[in-house]
Amino acid sequence: MKIAVLPGDGIGPEIVAQAVKVMEALRSEGLQIEMEYAHIGGAGYDAAGDPLPEATLKLAQESDAVLLGAVGGYQYDNLPRPQRPEQGLLRIRKVLNLFANLRPAMVYPELVSASSLKPELVSGLDILILRELTGDIYFGQPRGIRTLENGERQGFDTMHYSESEIRRVAHVGFQSAMKRSKKLCSVDKANVLDTSMFWREIVTEVGKEYPEVELSHMYVDNAAMQLVRAPKQFDVILTGNIFGDILSDEASMLTGSIGMLPSASLDANNKGLYEPCHGSAPDIAGKNIANPLATILSVAMMMRYTFAREDIAQRIENAVRKTLQQGYRTGDIAEAGMAKIGTAEMGDAVVAAL
Ligand code: IPM
Ligand code: MG
Repeated sequence: MKIAVLPGDGIGPEIVAQAVKVMEALRSEGLQIEMEYAHIGGAGYDAAGDPLPEATLKLAQESDAVLLGAVGGYQYDNLPRPQRPEQGLLRIRKVLNLFANLRPAMVYPELVSASSLKPELVSGLDILILRELTGDIYFGQPRGIRTLENGERQGFDTMHYSESEIRRVAHVGFQSAMKRSKKLCSVDKANVLDTSMFWREIVTEVGKEYPEVELSHMYVDNAAMQLVRAPKQFDVILTGNIFGDILSDEASMLTGSIGMLPSASLDANNKGLYEPCHGSAPDIAGKNIANPLATILSVAMMMRYTFAREDIAQRIENAVRKTLQQGYRTGDIAEAGMAKIGTAEMGDAVVAAL
């Protein structure tokens, strides 16, 4: 297992260090894991003047999987767009063709009361948001800021989805639904956007190949509302890049903390980039208070999807569950009166449980 480790910025290095502890524990049992580090995001800019340095891209291309922490920091906010940390992440997703972004949101029984919703609404929740990751308004051209004939300046972006882009992610959606409860909800804005109208047409067509899957469609505004009204009505949610960006942050809060949510971004051959859904949280960086569980759970997803080691994936997930059962909490998931532990201590607790 050749794994590129890209800690990135903010809390990235400290949370990735905990996931590395887990991989080292697995390696000490004989699993053949090889890890190599490289810079991305602001760290890439600092080291090589580029948020995705050539050496990092090469390492990622030569590896079976990539483990990423997070990118972004205040000190980079005023750089020209191509040098901004986020561009490193967007480019690595695009160049590696990681079009299928899996963001599972599940509620651990121990954390039910950490959710901002009533326990009965979220208890037992287990949904999968499948977000298309390499198309849509994120990458559409042309884009920019232009001056109109009347002299007024205007910002503009382009939303588009080609048929092949929709088809391939729709297949992943239906296949995921087949492995779960055979329900797929495709989220779009077909009442307003032509891109969405086309998305709906193609998803419906692909759905004919999966007669066992119950396909439904929902407008994104309604989906945003339903996610906080009755989230358990969903199983797999299939959606485009920008809607998925927004809905997955919303879904994370159902689970109590965005610090719990892992993600996998896969290409057509299950090569993948694994990262927590949360960002670099520069305000708490270096304080040993960030929650490393999303990153550790991302390693579980890596074992499941890239390496087809469901056994190891479940061991890691069970270790996380056990750690929570034992009462270990970082600040973001601690209830009033509970003892809090630090990032490194949480990593150690998971390794011990493993
Ligand atoms: C995410 C993040 C990224 C995105 C940013 C950091 C570019 O919000 O992974 O959801 O918008 O995709
Ligand atoms: Mg986001």
